[in-house]
Amino acid sequence: MGKIIINGDLKSRSDVKVDIEDRGYQFGDGVYEVIRVYNGELFAGDMHLNRLIDSAKLIQMKVPFTIAEIKTRMKELIAENQLKDGIVYMQLTRGVSARTHSFPTAEVEPVFVAYTKEMPYTGKMKPGVNAVTTDDIRWLRCNIKSLNLLGNIMAKQQAVEAGCDEAIQHRDGTVTEGSSSNVSIVVDGQLKTHPATNLILNGITRQVMLKLCADHGIPYVEEAFTVEDMMAADEVLYTSTSVEVTPIINIDGQSIAAGEPGPITQRLQKLFSEEIEKQCGSIK
Ligand code: PDD
Repeated sequence: MGKIIINGDLKSRSDVKVDIEDRGYQFGDGVYEVIRVYNGELFAGDMHLNRLIDSAKLIQMKVPFTIAEIKTRMKELIAENQLKDGIVYMQLTRGVSARTHSFPTAEVEPVFVAYTKEMPYTGKMKPGVNAVTTDDIRWLRCNIKSLNLLGNIMAKQQAVEAGCDEAIQHRDGTVTEGSSSNVSIVVDGQLKTHPATNLILNGITRQVMLKLCADHGIPYVEEAFTVEDMMAADEVLYTSTSVEVTPIINIDGQSIAAGEPGPITQRLQKLFSEEIEKQCGSIK
């Protein structure tokens, strides 16, 4: 894991302990981000850091650093840990204070922690995966990248127990998103994905993908679709910082179309890897 950052200091993992009254530990009272690193460079770093600030604002939590400061510290961390391909994980909790549900007093400072993890990147297109569907049991502020992930965890566990990669959540039959990803379908050449409302996390990968659609003439619409629409779609795909753009070829044991990655998904995978090279340099 190498070094970690805690509140602006670079330390060894073994030198850092979580206080039992850290509100992140006791209540999940905090927000987080996962940013991909390719070639030692942050991918879509500003978009992620802006979302971190937005999430903090939405839970009325102060952020003791500017985006530029966080970015500089993240670059130092990447250099210190000699990270080429991987992720930076960062979280901000409402600080350490005697346990009471309401916010602590104003002098309690948030606790910021960041670390890196290696994740190899080959530049090769990811093959199709299997998924299950499940009820979306989460709260109604899914646009906040909150540390409270119980609903997401329960959903992902169902996928794992079914031998699948992802659980696709729905509210009364309307697909929202994956347990840790956004989901899109392709019908008659048009990509469709849930609008960025309070019911989904507005994924950075999702936003980059929609920009690629706009720039390259791939028709898309941000519109909710049902589980039924999805099962009958020509293509299903999911996106996130870790899976990038990945086809879903089987859901609940049923093949999607021919059960193979479709042409639009493959085109988006190619465009996405070009975008990575554009932002982070060529992948060897
Ligand atoms: N998860 N929706 C949910 C519920 C997520 O947790 C994530 C990301 C996404 C995709 O967002 P992005 O494209 O910005 O990664 C959508 C991260 C990777 C995680 O929790 O590890």
